Amino acid sequence: MYEQISHSLLNDVLIALKPEIKYQKLQHFYTRLGANFYAIHSLFCSLYGDRPDFKKQMLHLVETMARQYIRRPAHLKKTDLAREKDHNWFLSQQWVGMALYCDGFADDLKGVQSRLNYLQDLGVNLVHIMPICDCPEGKSDGGYAIRDFRKVDSRFGTLKDLDELAANLRKRDMLLTLDVVMNHTSDQHEWAQKARAGDKAFQNYYFTFDDRQTPDIFEESMPEVFPETAPGNFTWDAVMGKWVMTVFNSYQWDLNYRNPAVFIEMLDIILFWANHGADILRLDAVAFLWKKMGSSCQNEREAHQILQLMKDCCQVTAPGVLFIAEAIVAPTEIIKYFGEDAINAKECEIAYNATFMALLWEAVATKNTTLLNIGIHSIPEKLERATWLNYVRCHDDIGWGFSDADIIAAGYDPQLHRRFLVDYFTGSHEASQAKGLAFGKNEKTGDARISGALASLVSLESALENNDAEAIDAAIKVILLLHSMIFAFGGIPLLYYGDAIGTLNDDAYLNDENKSNDNRWMHRPKMDWDKAARRKQPGTTEYRLFNAIKKMISVRKEISAFADRNNRELLHVDNMHLFAFSRFDQTISQSRVLVIGNFDTEPQSLALEPMRRLGFFQYDTVKDLCSGETLSLLGEALMIPALSFYWFQT
Ligand code: GLC
Repeated sequence: MYEQISHSLLNDVLIALKPEIKYQKLQHFYTRLGANFYAIHSLFCSLYGDRPDFKKQMLHLVETMARQYIRRPAHLKKTDLAREKDHNWFLSQQWVGMALYCDGFADDLKGVQSRLNYLQDLGVNLVHIMPICDCPEGKSDGGYAIRDFRKVDSRFGTLKDLDELAANLRKRDMLLTLDVVMNHTSDQHEWAQKARAGDKAFQNYYFTFDDRQTPDIFEESMPEVFPETAPGNFTWDAVMGKWVMTVFNSYQWDLNYRNPAVFIEMLDIILFWANHGADILRLDAVAFLWKKMGSSCQNEREAHQILQLMKDCCQVTAPGVLFIAEAIVAPTEIIKYFGEDAINAKECEIAYNATFMALLWEAVATKNTTLLNIGIHSIPEKLERATWLNYVRCHDDIGWGFSDADIIAAGYDPQLHRRFLVDYFTGSHEASQAKGLAFGKNEKTGDARISGALASLVSLESALENNDAEAIDAAIKVILLLHSMIFAFGGIPLLYYGDAIGTLNDDAYLNDENKSNDNRWMHRPKMDWDKAARRKQPGTTEYRLFNAIKKMISVRKEISAFADRNNRELLHVDNMHLFAFSRFDQTISQSRVLVIGNFDTEPQSLALEPMRRLGFFQYDTVKDLCSGETLSLLGEALMIPALSFYWFQT
């Protein structure tokens, strides 16, 4: 887009560039800068236009992008060009991810390299290595309290180890995902230390206040993220003699994006990791990026503008790199992190599908898919060139983030239903043997979330303890049913390390004083490689889980209808225990998959006639893609076995 004001500013900026940038051959950089400059200027102006040094900041922004472009390795620039040509590459059904802690999975980065065969055996080709940046020991929030954004924590290895791992992944056609913790730093970060020492410029990197006046106003409308362990949103820093905003833990200082220096620093850090070979960057806690008195300080319009600006700038320097939005917020808010428009106001290409995850757990507890159906219906259609990250478990707690209106529409009382879910997954409900723990209990609101390993939440742990073969069987079925949903739904499935072999809760965290008050550590285990080896022994739980998941992954990769092109249709079936949807590939006629899951512990029947009217089941038999089984369709109904699923090609 050509617009005079921004274009003449661009000319001024280009003239003012430092000689070491100006005299380089940067053809692709300039074409992209020209294409994106109108948007970059408009957003930067909307956020920071009232500052007297606006032009100087704009120059600094362009120089930051240019310097990182100059540093970008040639092979990554080549990937950028290839991905520009094939810009929907990430929507393919080929991608299957796994999130892992590098120390939990394999001690350190070198260890991860030595275990890549395990991932490839399963079919995983996208690895999300949880935060690896330098953190203070102890007060690290699992890597999300960063002391140095450009240094690999010595416990995990070095930057060279990361570079080697990235190169190795590339050779295997595997993608690397890394975290960028945008919202806050550790109180041990250099910026915080300088602020503490009285440097006003760095105090302005954060939200600091001399007294409680402003913090008290903020508190009126801000919820608490960790009400039990870090109540309130401000912490008194005795050395600085000021209150500082700390939305998460008291040692995580929130960054102040009203200051353009913060934006430019964080852009530089994003580009730094892009240049170290990250294909995808997971932007942590993005809903919190903009703080405004009187609001919840989540999902503010400016938080979206910051993300749009990040995207536009990243597209100039490293257009092949994608962003994941980690925004665990209401369904109607999550969708906004894709941006308003796939070209003009793009934010993140990928977002965690926290709604689907929570709804799946709700269906496990109720054995009923009413809310699941309603909840999925209420998720607005997403943009083109945007995709979900579908997951069953991750390193965080499970929150019941579906809307109250949907819970009511499903026939429940929101508060009682959420309480039932907590009781169910903590095993206090009579119908449950689950072994989760309540996390983030808020005495004021009565809310609580859930911690616990997948296998323990679906009662595999209790079943194994009781040596109850039937219960073991049922738990395995639930694990597979949940995975069948995330593989088929549309988007990138993201497994969690340990889940493919049924890893149980790990209570080692209780012996560590830095972890014992945060029960999310119960599902951040040390990978047991002897257990993993049992995946090769027929008859073991590990074998049953691993091989069934591996099979699903390989089938998923073969079926183009599983690519995510907004090609899913939710099907209404007259049975409240079944969840059914179809996936189709418009480019190939007759390529349609019917996905059906039965969340009940009893077999459930699917009436055939209504399905025939929708164009399914036109023959006397149908084949399930995963098991290869052929089923007869001669009766009135098809029985879907308890806690099972089918992927029918029709
Ligand atoms: C994200 C992380 C979570 C962390 C929080 C604060 O939500 O996933 O583990 O506690 O951010 O950084």
